[in-house]
Amino acid sequence: MTLEHPVHVAPPTPEPGLGEPVLGNYFVAAYPPFSVWTAAEVPALNEALDRTASSTPLGVYVHLPFCQKKCDYCYYLSYVAQPAPVVNRYLETVLQEAALYADRRAVKQRPVSFAYFGGGTPSMLSRAQVRRLLSGLREAFPWDEIEEVTFECAPRSVTSEFLVALRELGVTRLSMGVQSFDDTLLAMNGRTHLAADIQRAFRLVDQAGFDCVNLDLMCGLLGETEAQWRESVRRVIELQPDGVTIYQTEIPRNTRLCREFEAGALPAQPVSWDVKRARLGEGFGALEQGGYTVISGYNAVRNPERHRFLYQDHLWGGADLIGLGVASFGYLGGVHYQNRTTLEDYEAAVARGELPFQRAFKLSDHDRLVREFVLQLKLGVVPLAPFRTRFGVDPVEFFADPLQKLAAAGWLTCEENAVRLTRTGLLRVDRLLAHFYDSRFQSIRYT
Ligand SMILES: C[S@@+](CC[C@H](N)C(=O)[O-])C[C@H]1O[C@@H](n2cnc3c(N)ncnc32)[C@H](O)[C@@H]1O
Ligand code: SF4
Repeated sequence: MTLEHPVHVAPPTPEPGLGEPVLGNYFVAAYPPFSVWTAAEVPALNEALDRTASSTPLGVYVHLPFCQKKCDYCYYLSYVAQPAPVVNRYLETVLQEAALYADRRAVKQRPVSFAYFGGGTPSMLSRAQVRRLLSGLREAFPWDEIEEVTFECAPRSVTSEFLVALRELGVTRLSMGVQSFDDTLLAMNGRTHLAADIQRAFRLVDQAGFDCVNLDLMCGLLGETEAQWRESVRRVIELQPDGVTIYQTEIPRNTRLCREFEAGALPAQPVSWDVKRARLGEGFGALEQGGYTVISGYNAVRNPERHRFLYQDHLWGGADLIGLGVASFGYLGGVHYQNRTTLEDYEAAVARGELPFQRAFKLSDHDRLVREFVLQLKLGVVPLAPFRTRFGVDPVEFFADPLQKLAAAGWLTCEENAVRLTRTGLLRVDRLLAHFYDSRFQSIRYT
C-alpha cells in the first residue's frame, strides 16, 4: 500500500563512491546466477535424476504461492486472494509432481532430511489443505527420518487450531514474517498486519510447542527511521523467539516499490545500503546483548546447539533439494533448476505427466566448489577441511587473489582451518561473493 497523497520526491542518485544502486537484488540464493540457467540444460537434470542415489542429504521445498495481498517490496511469485478450488487444484498438482519424482532413481526410497514450506503465505491454507498436502508428501517420500520441517506464516493468518494441526503434522520450525512493529511503516510498505497482530500470533505460536519459532524482520523498509528500527529490534527481543532473521530490504525490478521509484512517485527516499548495513549491525549487536548468537549474515538464534537452521546449512553445504510447485528452485546431482513460472504452464506440464522444469544449469566440479564456498561464506565462517577432502583443493590457494584483496580491505581473515568474515564483512557478505565467481559469471545479470 502507498500513502493516499504521496509526497513526490526525485529518485536518489547512487550512493557516492560506492556505486551501489538502490534498485535490484542483494541476497544471493544461487551460483551461478539465474541469468545463465537455460532450457537447453534441462536434459542434464533428467540425466541426474536417472543416476544412482547419492548419499548427500535430501530436502524438499514446496512453494505455496498464495497471499492475501501483495506487499510493495515483494518479489516472490504469489497469487492474491485465490478461491479454495484453485488452491485445492494446485495442491493436487504438487502431489502429482511429487509422485513423478518418487519413481526416479536418484531420489527413489531416499529419506528426506529437511523440508521447507515457503511462499507466498503457506499459512493461508486451511487445516484440511495442509493435512492433505503433508499426508500426500509422506506417501511420495520416506519422511520418518526428517530433522527439520519449516513452515512460513504471516501474522494475520494464524489460528491456534491451524498451529496445532501443523504440530501434529510434524512441523518443527515455524517462521513468521513480522518485518516491523511500527504500524505506519507496515502500512506504508503494503503489509496487511499491525503490531497487535504480531503479538497475538506470537502468543499462539509460542503456546503451540514448536521446536523453533523464528521471526523475520526487514531493516531499511521504505520510510524507516533509526528510532523505528531500534524499537522493532527491542520488541522482537522482548518476545524472545528462538531465532530472528533480519533481511536488508531489497527493491527488485519486479516490485511495486521499484515501479513507483521509477515513476518518481515514492512517498519517501529508499534507505541507502550504508544505512541498511548499519541497522543490520545494530540489530545483531542488540540481539547479542540479549543473549542471541549470530549464525549467518541474516540469522541470530538463542541456542545455537538447538536452533541451527538446517535447511540453510544443508543447502549451502551441497545437499540435494527437490523443488515442488510453480517457479520452485531445486538442486539435484549438481544441477540447479527452476520449475515453470506461471500457474498455467506448471499445471499443464504436470497434467501431461512431465516434471515441470523450465530451466537448469549443470555445474562442473569447479562450479560446485565455488558455489559451496560462496554460499557458506554467507554463514560467516567456512571450514576448509571439507573442501580439501571433497574437492582435493585448498580454498586458500584456489581463491588466493580474492581472499588477499578482501582481507586487505578488512572484510575477512584467513585462518589455518577456516576463512572467517569480520563483522563488517558479514554485514555486506552478498556484495563480496562475486569476487570469487568464475570469470564467465563476473558482471552478469543476477536474474
Ligand atoms: C515468503 S516471505 C515469508 C512469509 C510471508 N509471505 C510473509 O511475508 O510474512 C519470506 C521473507 O522474505 C523477506 N522479504 C520479502 N521481500 C523482501 C525484500 N524485498 N527484501 C528483503 N526481504 C524480503 C521477508 O522478511 C519475508 O518474511
Ligand atoms: S512478502 Fe510474503 S505476504 Fe507479502 S506478498 Fe510476498 S509472499 Fe506475500
